[in-house]
Amino acid sequence: MIECIIDCDPGIDDALALIFASKLRTLKIKAITTVFGNSTVENTSLNALKILDLIQRTDIRVYRGSASPIIKNYRFPAYNYLDDEINPHGANGLANIVLPQPTQKLSESNAIDLIINTILENPKRISIIAIGPLTNIAIALLKSPEIAQSIKEIIIMGGAIKVQGNINKFSEFNIWSDAEAAKIVFNMMSDKIILVPLDVTRQIIFKNVEIFNKNNLYNKFLYNILNFYSTFHLNNCGFFGSILHDPFAVGVAENRDYCDIREIPLDVEIEDRNKYGKVFINLEKDKENKKIKTCLNISLKNIEKFLNYFEKKLLNF
Ligand code: RIB
Ligand code: CA
Repeated sequence: MIECIIDCDPGIDDALALIFASKLRTLKIKAITTVFGNSTVENTSLNALKILDLIQRTDIRVYRGSASPIIKNYRFPAYNYLDDEINPHGANGLANIVLPQPTQKLSESNAIDLIINTILENPKRISIIAIGPLTNIAIALLKSPEIAQSIKEIIIMGGAIKVQGNINKFSEFNIWSDAEAAKIVFNMMSDKIILVPLDVTRQIIFKNVEIFNKNNLYNKFLYNILNFYSTFHLNNCGFFGSILHDPFAVGVAENRDYCDIREIPLDVEIEDRNKYGKVFINLEKDKENKKIKTCLNISLKNIEKFLNYFEKKLLNF
């Protein structure tokens, strides 16, 4: 059993990841922590609560986290998450779909303290699945450095190693949103990280939307968010389909055999504004043995295997 905290910024693919994770018998979701990213932290927190209602998992608590990056807020004017024309996730973070108001409230305590307390109270047992900007994790590490030894592992969706980024040609969104936070996490818990970068996630494209075209709230929600996200990719990338960045990170948390994983000395660019957030191979770092387990390749067979598994898990509700 993998006991995990999912740190996320729902976000369409985060929503799919939460639903997928809730269906995996091997995962015990101890808590959900939210962070700014695909939308404001108010929206990502509200969206997490609504998704839990949708899948009838209000046994899982939601803890609100950081509203902005630790130091720099390089949100380029063109990428203002409140602009639903630009944002792949819509103005409210969930394809502008209005789900019913949540039945549970946000927890009183914040995400940072939840992360610290859960890890220290369960030494070597807690995994974090980080599928948004790494601000919460970095602040938790600065506040309580001992969690770096006590955490079991952290699976991070982020970075673009040998491929172009998705914010610009250098940077991937989660790392770019708070590169200082990512640098702190990479440096303070490198041996506990499994990095799932665009190198593999960009190949995980779900196209089979019609199977959710049914007349109930759960299927209509999936149908609408998948259509919205697939249309964004059609208009911006030339194909109709949803790239499953975050659900695949959940998949790797359960089974790392999907990918060819290499240990490489990685670092994060924070000085050069044009390359801010780029994850690069730093051979200098190799001397301190700061290597990070990184998913670099995936076979077509394993892409198909994951997509079929993902579809089966989402279908049976
Ligand atoms: O670059 C992909 C990542 O950025 C995913 O986590 C997606 O939800 C967005 O946050
Ligand atoms: Ca995300």
